[in-house]
Amino acid sequence: MTAVAGQVAGAAYIVAALLFILSLAGLSKHETSRRGVTFGIVGMAIALVATVWVTAAGAWGTSTGSATEGTDSSAGSAATTGLVLLVVAVVVGGAIGLWRARVVEMTGMPELIALLHSFVGLAAVLVGWNGALYDTGLEGALADIHHAEVFIGVFIGGVTFTGSIVAFLKLSGRISSKPLMLPGKNALNVGALVAFLVLTVWYVITPELWLLVLVTTLALALGWHLVASIGGGDMPVVVSMLNSYSGWAAAAAGFLLNNDLLIVTGALVGSSGAYLSYIMCKAMNRSFLSVIAGGFGIEAPTSGDQDYGEHREIDAEGAADMLAGASTVVITPGYGMAVAQAQHGVADLVQKLRERGVDVRFGIHPVAGRLPGHMNVLLAEAKVPYDIVLEMDEINDDLSAADVVLVIGANDTVNPAAAEDPGSPIAGMPVLRVWEAQNVIVFKRSMASGYAGVQNPLFYRDNTQMLFGDAKEKVDEILFQLSRTSELR
Ligand code: TAP
Repeated sequence: MTAVAGQVAGAAYIVAALLFILSLAGLSKHETSRRGVTFGIVGMAIALVATVWVTAAGAWGTSTGSATEGTDSSAGSAATTGLVLLVVAVVVGGAIGLWRARVVEMTGMPELIALLHSFVGLAAVLVGWNGALYDTGLEGALADIHHAEVFIGVFIGGVTFTGSIVAFLKLSGRISSKPLMLPGKNALNVGALVAFLVLTVWYVITPELWLLVLVTTLALALGWHLVASIGGGDMPVVVSMLNSYSGWAAAAAGFLLNNDLLIVTGALVGSSGAYLSYIMCKAMNRSFLSVIAGGFGIEAPTSGDQDYGEHREIDAEGAADMLAGASTVVITPGYGMAVAQAQHGVADLVQKLRERGVDVRFGIHPVAGRLPGHMNVLLAEAKVPYDIVLEMDEINDDLSAADVVLVIGANDTVNPAAAEDPGSPIAGMPVLRVWEAQNVIVFKRSMASGYAGVQNPLFYRDNTQMLFGDAKEKVDEILFQLSRTSELR
């Protein structure tokens, strides 16, 4: 029974792994993404059922043919305990997961994802420790490999755990998003990696518990430092990087638990997360290696709080007048539009302006908002036609010809300091060059900085006017003013 259960589970794991690969392929395109999600759900359901069955049959590890056999009664009681623990974990975890997924706001997704990554890291640490404390009876080279797996699993898991917690704290605004600049931070990171390598060799030769305590502490400290050293502007990359780390942590746990599916799934998550980080680094003109190495080589920003002079303000009526006289308008939305849930009002405004013959288009920055595609999802929800929603690279050269640019709740993504101030923390990040337009109206509630915590000189430019208040209320006021003027005509 045990051997059969193990073999069937092994086959089920292969099917699940294939479904996960198909799921990733499906998710890479808009049109096939629903199918991709379905493949993922079916794969996970198969994996869960197979795992429950393998646990009930007391056949853990037999899918690869290497379970350690015990007496019938001890195997039976271990299977029962395992099953009870598994069911409790699935019910409690599933209930919390369902609840969080239902209540989370779109704007809170990145921090939730960061928090979930921390659980994967913690699980890898616990699995590693369990592997160290449990007597496998292995000898010779196999024992050495086991010890290396334990050590590497604990290290990757520890880094992922604290790194994800810092990312969660930064993304949710509980701690400052400014980069921590400890003296010699690069040397600290490199030193920690060298220490890890030395300790791994030591542990393989003499697997003593204090070494495991040491590497756990080292990994927790390194994870914290790596992410704390990265500035707010680079946080989107950090989230996908932690996604990658969590995959490798899961793969490491898979080796220890002798579970093929965990190894394959971990590798899929690890490599796709790494690839996503690479794509995002390219989009943001960042060095991939610097970011994954905790801001390695990135110097402390030299420009701080400067006095840019006075800003000018406009009210909704003035903004409506300006829009009524414009022939080309570009809208660049950002995180504030999501917070205000202004997308429906913005869609109405676009329709009204287009009815008046105004050419209206959107310019979308690749990291506007808090997750990739955030603005596109909101605009699609408000039924804004796709063909007027352009990517940053498609619209940037046309911005100088725009009569009015409406910056709705965007800040970092339209900050000229990124292009003009080499000492700025976001220097080199591509931005929407809205300041080249004839007139710029910025919708926000105050003069506060954006996500990266950097001042924005755009607000003080001669062609910029600030429209203070909640973006949804201000858009509604403009709509009201526009309908008033059309009634008067
Ligand atoms: P941000 O730089 O975050 O600025 C958003 C602005 O919206 C704030 O300055 C805020 O100013 C304003 N705002 C907030 N609530 C508002 C409301 N109800 N009405 C009107 N305005 C409101 O936005 P962005 O330009 O979209 O840039 C995104 C930033 O997030 C980048 O730094 C990016 O790197 C980072 N990030 C992106 C992602 C992804 S993948 N997209 C993930 C994590 C982080 P007030 O408080 O003054 O209103």
